[in-house]
Amino acid sequence: MLKVEDLCYEYESGFKLKNINFEVKGGESIGIIGENGSGKTTLVKNLIGLLRPKSGKILLNGEDTSKMSVAEIARTIGFVFQNPDNQIFASTVKEEVSFGPQNLKMDNIEEIVEDVLKKTDLFKYKDSHPFKLSGGEKQRLALASILVMNPKILILDEPTSGLDLRNARKLIGIVKNLQREGRTLILISHDMKLVSDLCERIILMKSGEIIADGGIKEIFNDSNLLEKTRLDLPEIAKLSKILEFGIVFDPEELYRKWRASND
Ligand SMILES: Nc1ncnc2c1ncn2[C@@H]1O[C@H](COP(=O)(O)OP(=O)(O)OP(=O)(O)O)[C@@H](O)[C@H]1O
Ligand SMILES: [Mg+2]
Repeated sequence: MLKVEDLCYEYESGFKLKNINFEVKGGESIGIIGENGSGKTTLVKNLIGLLRPKSGKILLNGEDTSKMSVAEIARTIGFVFQNPDNQIFASTVKEEVSFGPQNLKMDNIEEIVEDVLKKTDLFKYKDSHPFKLSGGEKQRLALASILVMNPKILILDEPTSGLDLRNARKLIGIVKNLQREGRTLILISHDMKLVSDLCERIILMKSGEIIADGGIKEIFNDSNLLEKTRLDLPEIAKLSKILEFGIVFDPEELYRKWRASND
């Protein structure tokens, strides 16, 4: 679905993305992780065409994105920004969500918008001004205004930062429903619990390079990598590692393994 070949990018400040290579299959959920400033947001800005690679290629369903406009790429890849305020500009929630579909001249806009507002639990705010919404609601609005265009690939940049537990759970619930529908997910996050909850594969970045790409358990088991990138595992994974049960994220599974080892 998405193939990145030898992508290089450089800001005037000197920061570089170096020889990025990876592939994403339809329906996969991938976490892009790495320290602050490792280049995660820069990479996805290249994927969605906001920045253009200095060299290398990005293929979307086999088509080179260098020949596609940002709007064309957006039909397939939806990107929800790190800070929802950057994305919100209309004067009502409904207008905000209707903007994309109107631009794309989609059919049945009224119906689709209503459906997305319900899915994201924002229907009751449809006539409110977006800036009156709480942080959690704004985050869902940013997601709704992307979802409404039905992108096959959804990229979320730190979707739960600044959200309390209830709002974070609500957002995770919405994302899990999207995964069940077969949507492809790319999640950028520093929250390893969230990443382990939503992703089976991880791309680990450091100083503009991908230093690991593989199954989440495999990567979380690699102590050298963890040290090099100062990754902090979810508490349950730390415990399961100490108990020498490998990486376990599910408390029940850990309990079963512990029981079995005591029999
Ligand atoms: N517009 C820009 N011009 C110049 N340098 C930039 C620009 N945007 C980002 N950078 C630099 O590029 C590097 C990578 O930034 P990027 O935002 O991609 O990191 P990140 O991995 O998303 O970090 P975080 O986890 O903090 O969001 C940083 O050193 C940053 O200062
Ligand atoms: Mg970032």
